[in-house]
Parts: sequence; C-alpha cells; structure tokens
Amino acid sequence: MPAWLRDAIFYEIYPQSFYDTNGDGIGDIEGIIRKLDYVRDLGCNALWINPCFDSPFKDAGYDVRDYEKVAPRYGTNDDLYRLFDEAHKKNIHVLLDLVPGHTSEEHQWFRESKKAEKNEYSDRYVWTNCWIQGIAGHPYIGGEADRDGCYMLNFFKCQPALNYGFLNRTQDWQLSPDDPACIATREAMKDVMRFWLDHGCDGFRVDMADSLVKDDDENKSATGAIWKNIREMLDNDYPEAAIISEWSNPSQALKSGFHADFYLDHHGNGYNTLLRDYETAGGDHSFLKKDGKGDIMRFLNDYLPKYDDTKDDGYISFITCNHDTPRPRRTLDMDELKLAIAMFLTLPGVPFIYYGDEIGMRYLDIPTKEGGYTRTGTRTPMQWDNGANKGFSTAPAGKLYLPTDPSDDAPTVADQVKDPSSLLSTVKALTHLRKSYDDLKADSPFAVVYAEEKEYPFVYRRGTLYIAINPSDQKASVSLSKKHEKIFEIGTATINEASLMMEPQSFVILK
Ligand code: GLC
Ligand code: CA
Repeated sequence: MPAWLRDAIFYEIYPQSFYDTNGDGIGDIEGIIRKLDYVRDLGCNALWINPCFDSPFKDAGYDVRDYEKVAPRYGTNDDLYRLFDEAHKKNIHVLLDLVPGHTSEEHQWFRESKKAEKNEYSDRYVWTNCWIQGIAGHPYIGGEADRDGCYMLNFFKCQPALNYGFLNRTQDWQLSPDDPACIATREAMKDVMRFWLDHGCDGFRVDMADSLVKDDDENKSATGAIWKNIREMLDNDYPEAAIISEWSNPSQALKSGFHADFYLDHHGNGYNTLLRDYETAGGDHSFLKKDGKGDIMRFLNDYLPKYDDTKDDGYISFITCNHDTPRPRRTLDMDELKLAIAMFLTLPGVPFIYYGDEIGMRYLDIPTKEGGYTRTGTRTPMQWDNGANKGFSTAPAGKLYLPTDPSDDAPTVADQVKDPSSLLSTVKALTHLRKSYDDLKADSPFAVVYAEEKEYPFVYRRGTLYIAINPSDQKASVSLSKKHEKIFEIGTATINEASLMMEPQSFVILK
C-alpha cells in the first residue's frame, strides 16, 4: 500500500474543461500546470486526470487510439512529463486514467486485428469465427472487417473489447483467460502502465476495471486474477504507485489488488441515499437534503458491511461527483453541499473532489458532446473569475469546448476565495483539518456513535474524534458519553455537559 494514499485528497480534472492556455477553446496540460498552486491551496495533494491520450474523441477520450501519446489538443508527452515534475515539487501525486477493457476502433492493434490474414493482433480483441455469428448476451458488430467474424464491444460502438478471454466457455472461438493471446493483452497493458510510471506518473484510475474477462463468475475471480498479477508487478517494481478502480464493489476490487475503489452512484445504494436519491418515487429524500426526510440507516446498511469487509485491504473512495454523474449542485444547495463535502472529507478512505464542485458549479442542461449525452452538463469549463469565459479561455465564446454557466450568479473561484463563509473556504478548512489530524486520515478507525432510522443527527467516531452532522432543517440533539471540546463547526452546535445541541444544517468535529 503506497503510504501517500493515507493522506491523499484527490482532485479530478477533466482536461478539456480545466484551463486553456493557448486560446483554442479547450483546456490543456499547460493549463493544469499553471493551476497547480490552486490545487495545492485547495488542500488537494493528488490529481486524477481523465484520459488525455490520442483519440478520435467519440467517448471524450475513453476511446484510446494511442496509449502512449498525449492527444495533440492537450499538448505533448513532454508537457505531461513536465506536469509530473511540477506536481511532485508541490507534493502532488498524479494518476492517469487507464482504459484496459477496450481501445478506439482506430487503435493500431484493432486495425491489424481486423485483417483477414492472421497476425500478432488477431486475438487481441474478442472475435467470433464466422461473419454471421454474433455473441449471445453481449453487444457485437458484424460486417465491418475483412476478417470472417464479428467483434465484441465493451461500451460504445467505437470501443471494441480487448481480449482477456472467457471464464465460462461455450463456443470454440472463446479463449481461456490463460491462452497466450489473452496473457499478451494483459502484458501489453502492463507495458502501457510501465511506460507512464517510468515517466513519473504515480498510478492509475482504472476504467471499467471489472470488465476484463467475459462471462466471469459472480465474484469476478478471473478478472481479479489479472489485477492480482498486475498488482504483483507494481509491488515489485513500483511500490509507490497506486491503482484505483471503477468497480464499485470494494470487496471484489480491493481483494483483487486495487488500493482503493470508488463508491459510485447506483440507484438505492448507500452513496445514492446520501445525496442522489432523485429517482425514487415520492421525491428526493437524500440524507443530506434539508427536508429532513432522509434516513442514515439506508446508507449504513449498505456501507458498513463493505467497510468492515475491506478495511484491512484498502480504501473506499467517496466522490463529490465525477465526469459521468450529474453535479451535486443539481439537487443540493450551497449549504447542503458544504455538509456533503464535510461528511466525505471526514469519512474513512480516500476522498475525491471533482473540479468545480468545490465552488458549487451547476449541472447545465446542454446538448451532447463527444459521447457525453446527459453527462455533458457536468463537463463544462471551470469558472475561475468573472471575466470573459469565466477566466477559462481567451477564445471567442462560440469556440469553447463547452459553454460556461450563463447565469448571473455563476459561482467563481475569484468570488469565493475572498469570502470566509463560501463553499470554497469551507472546503479548504476541511482539507486543512484532514491533514492536521491523524484521526482523519484514510485508515484511521471509523465507528458509528449515534445513528437511528430517520433521526438526526448522525454521529460517528474517527479515532478519538467525534463528528456530528445534522443536515435537516430542524434542530436535533444527542447525548454523548462525556463532555467534548469543539474543534470545527459549520452552522452552530452547542455543548451542554454531555449533550450536543445542533442547529439546523450543522456539522461539528469534537475532541
Ligand atoms: C467509464 C468512464 C466513462 C466511459 C466508459 C467507457 O465508465 O468513466 O466516462 O464512457 O467507462 O470507457
Ligand atoms: Ca488549449
């Protein structure tokens, strides 16, 4: 386990939309370099950068055409190496996005794989052995290649599935995960990892990490075996490198070698009930909404078993949002958002802040771009100041990658940095606290102190610290076993002997 993860607070950057330094309307690597001081001052000490590799951008870069080349629209490989260097000088680690399950249909491997003549790449992707035979239960494409066969997709039509084999095989064209061709796919992906690690990157966020072996068992054990093998390489050759999975099943992911796994939004799961309960009939009763109709037990019943099962293996990552989900500001107001971030930064595991959520950027209702669909509204330019294009770019507004928030009160860094009560200032105070108290680090013990169905507040312990949150619009109180001292608060909480009285929408850390 890389020791730095214990202290890590991540900042996710969608490079298209962070900061444009050459006026072409799209963010670039140089833009990330110039904003490293901002990231450091925010209190984040690690970055996850969405795919920045050569790509036709039919899925915003998750359709990689060349794993080892920075997309020209963002700069050059040298720019990225310089980003690693400059970030390290500021004690910031940098994760790239590894997409191991599929490539772009324009990747050189796939061009070779499509050929009628057998070659080194024929089995790099999943193909049937007859042009008219598809793949039961999986999406596939026929009629596009000279080769006699259909190929499998991993996501969009532009993303053919790399071949790591099938665990349960019913067809003769299905290879075993141990087949030399499938091992070659795994080794090729290790080469990609080594390439970037040797140039100074600190690890990877791994896209669709659970998708490698097809028709795997319910524990995904064959896919897990591949990750264990990759982890072995990291432990031997790059012990400080981190891998964080898009798997959303920490028991499977962390026991397969990932250091952390994202707690993603799935309808009805614990994370969803905290702030994204908007698809439930009868209305959004997320715990963090002030209507006070939430239920912390819906979160704990899902989270606690996951935490208990994995706390010795690695970390669960809470996210404010990511490039695939609506921004939390879509349904939470600024005060609710403060409490949400306060909770995520004081729970165990390695937290992630998606760029712009620290100022409460809105989710915009805009047309799709680069395969974003409903995700596009979460990917708009960072709002730095109140100048042209909100300080993101000097390009004419019509040339921007995506439009900026047109509202008069669009939140900006410039406004919030001066205001001690702003969301941005609150986030900074919280990141600072997380760094100052060992009890708030990723692996410090967590225990529930007070949690009752449909009741407020929720009180939990991290090491020797007590943390209480009352997101509802009603006062709430609780008695604690001893008199505590406040070290941080949002809103107002008063301590009277051993009882804690919390005003509506308050949060407090006690020692
Ligand atoms: C992951 C990414 C998403 C992408 C998909 C296919 O879910 O987060 O943005 O479209 O994988 O690579
Ligand atoms: Ca640019």
